[in-house]
Formats: sequence, C-alpha cells, structure tokens
Amino acid sequence: MSVADPLLERAAALLHAGEVVGLPTETVYGLAADATNPEALAKIFAIKGRPTGHPLIVHLGDASWLDESATDIPESARRLAERFWPGPLTLILRRSPRVSLAATGGLETVGLRVPDHPVALALLRAFGRPLAAPSANRFGAVSPTTRAHVLRDLGDRVPLVLEGGESRVGVESTIVDLSSGAPRLLRPGAVTQTELEAALGVPVPFALPGDVRAPGTLESHYAPRARVLVTSESELFERARALATTEFVGVLCRGRPRDLPKEIASYELGATDAEIAHRLYDGLRSLDEAGCECIVSFLPEATGLGAAIEDRLVRAAAPRSSKATAD
Ligand code: TXA
Ligand code: MG
Repeated sequence: MSVADPLLERAAALLHAGEVVGLPTETVYGLAADATNPEALAKIFAIKGRPTGHPLIVHLGDASWLDESATDIPESARRLAERFWPGPLTLILRRSPRVSLAATGGLETVGLRVPDHPVALALLRAFGRPLAAPSANRFGAVSPTTRAHVLRDLGDRVPLVLEGGESRVGVESTIVDLSSGAPRLLRPGAVTQTELEAALGVPVPFALPGDVRAPGTLESHYAPRARVLVTSESELFERARALATTEFVGVLCRGRPRDLPKEIASYELGATDAEIAHRLYDGLRSLDEAGCECIVSFLPEATGLGAAIEDRLVRAAAPRSSKATAD
C-alpha cells in the first residue's frame, strides 16, 4: 500500500502547521499529531473527547529514534525493539524531555512504538519527528480499522485521513511496561505473552489493577452503541435466539448456521484468531449500524492473539454505568 507523494507532503505540511492527520497503521487507524507540540496535541484530546490525563502512544519512524524519545533505556527494551519493531508492540519507558508532557498525560513515562505500515512509516520519515497517535475514534467507542471508519467518526473534524487499506492486525498493540523493574504486560495484542517471555527469558505477567499508574489502561470499553454479551461458542446461537424474542439481536460468529431465524443479524468473523482479530471491530461497527440492540459474541480461547480478542470483547461487554475509560 502506498500513498501518492503529494498527499504525504500535504500530511507532513499539516503536521508541521500543528494540525492532526488520520493515519493507517497495522493495528488500527490513529489520529496523529506532532509529539513535541503541545498545541497540536491538545487538538487530539479535543477531537476525540478524551480526558487530557490519558497518555497517548508515540510513534517512531525507526528504532534509532528511541534515544531521542526515552531515557534510562533498559537492555530489555532494546532487545524487544530489535525483535518486534516495526510491529504491534508498545514499550513504556521513561520520557525524554523532547516528548511533550501533553502527549504523556503528564506522566514521566512514554509509550513508544514503530508501526509496521508503509504509509505510517513514510509519513513519519517525511515528517522526521515522533507522532503521538491514539486510535482515531471518539473516546469510549470502537477503534477504526479502515479509512471509512475514521471518516464516519471524525471526518468533519480532521483535515486529512490517509488511505492505507484495512488494518492487518485489527486490534491495538501489545503494551509492555519496562519503566520500572520487572516487565509487566498492560494490554494484550498481536505480540503475545509467550513471544515476549521467549525474547526476554523472564516471565512477563499481566499488570494487576493496582500496578497501573496510567489511566485508560484497564477497565476500558471498546464499546459500540448496542449492548454486548459474551458467551461460550457452544451456547452462542441458543443465547441469541432467547434474546431475539424481545430485541433486535446480532451475533458475531465464525459462520452462520442455516437454521438461524432471519430476524437475527450475523457477522462472520472467521475461523482463525488472526481473522477474528482482523474483522472484530468492523463486526461490532456493522451490527451497530444495522441497528442491533444487543450483540452476542463467543469468546475464543484466551491464548496467544485470542487473549487480545477476549480482552476487547470483555471490555465491550463491561457494564456501561461504570465510568468508561476507553481510548
Ligand atoms: O495499536 C495501537 O497502539 C494504536 C495505534 C494507533 O498505534 N494506538 C492506540 O492508542 O491504541 P490509544 O491512545 O487508543 O491507547 C493508548 C493506551 C492507553 O490505554 C494508555 O493508557 C496506554 O496506551 N499508555 C500510553 N502511554 C502510557 C504510559 N506512559 N504508561 C502506561 N500506559 C500508557
Ligand atoms: Mg484507543
């Protein structure tokens, strides 16, 4: 996937002028601004409706940019960067003064990654500075995995959204905290716990709620308008049928069975975890747009990429009355 040079030049010019640009990455689309410019960063928070204390992920054009964006970099960070960048892995490190506090929500740590997408990399290299970019959705909503999703959510507020096809991975990056002592997994993604442990040679446990110093990391909702229910694969259609007696139900399934009543909407995610992750957010969005009041999904086995899928579905299904903190 490549973008015509004039569009890249326009995007870089907008960023230099302190504007935001919609950016494809291999995980989800981001809303990018100059990570060194507090006024530009303020626009991200305003456009998303996101509280300013929620830190943004800062994107680098190359692992060699690491030393300008972080300090006290441990050997473990260099090893993970070498092994997984460009790719869907965010490292939490100590912030260098070059990265604005506006990007880190006032924290002395910063989340850094090199995205594995040719358009994102071309823009980063053309711009020549780190780009802060949260997912390009309204705060609390489902992340976008196509340009069309971004335009639907934020099209009237963003001057340019670059085209980059469907995001290959489909769920947000894995986040590992290396800023203090032993590594902790803050968010599961396509780089799995097993892969991290193999690369580092030490356990990388999930952070406990009390360990997390940044808001927006836990208890987030990646929620559509519809209510979301999760169940086992064997009970999926039975559950959907029971609910459909009183409301308009949509199911996220591997494949639609022939005998499912036609008043139940369905979206086929696919057979493998990679297909399910790739299609998950489009599935939630599509059933929402079809007007479903309730979306029922199965949970895949929570190993490997399945852990990331489970995490996002469980958050989407979390009670809405509790304060939504999704990014
Ligand atoms: O795949 C991704 O990571 C996408 C694409 C666009 O790169 N970005 C993304 O950003 O998901 P966002 O802002 O929607 O999610 C950022 C997450 C939040 O949960 C936030 O708490 C966590 O990263 N985070 C960022 N900086 C942090 C820090 N310094 N300490 C702890 N958590 C941090
Ligand atoms: Mg987000």
